[in-house]
Amino acid sequence: VLPDESADVINKIYNADTIIFGSPVYWWGVSAQLKMVIDKMYSKSEQFQEQKKKIGLVTVGADELKGPQYRIISEQMQCICEYLGWELVFSHPISAYEKTDVLNNSDELRKLGELWKKIS
Ligand SMILES: Cc1cc2nc3c(=O)[nH]c(=O)nc-3n(C[C@H](O)[C@H](O)[C@H](O)COP(=O)(O)O)c2cc1C
Repeated sequence: VLPDESADVINKIYNADTIIFGSPVYWWGVSAQLKMVIDKMYSKSEQFQEQKKKIGLVTVGADELKGPQYRIISEQMQCICEYLGWELVFSHPISAYEKTDVLNNSDELRKLGELWKKIS
């Protein structure tokens, strides 16, 4: 394990009961930045497997929600959670493109608020 800044993030994950991962969809997957964190999580797998955590996932892609990318990412997160013994409580895809698309969508903001209640 290289001694880089990711240790802080991994420690925060270790100390959290609940984590909501968020990512734009890049090439039918999560962003490289989130993938880097997920990869680093492997270094603490054994400790993580002793913990119970509730996980949420929010993905934002430009494509319509019927595109396969949201399912692909959700299935990957489900596999990761099963491996670690964590519970994937929700997986919420959003279709948006412009910067303020989500902010201007009151229905979407309401749904996000409901998800938060589900996991807390
Ligand atoms: C490199 C790159 C790859 C992308 N790939 C996809 C994709 O596979 N499917 C999709 O629906 N949207 C894709 N998009 C669109 C983004 O998911 C979408 O615009 C998102 O809101 C961008 O978030 P950001 O502004 O935080 O980068 C891609 C965008 C970029 C820049």
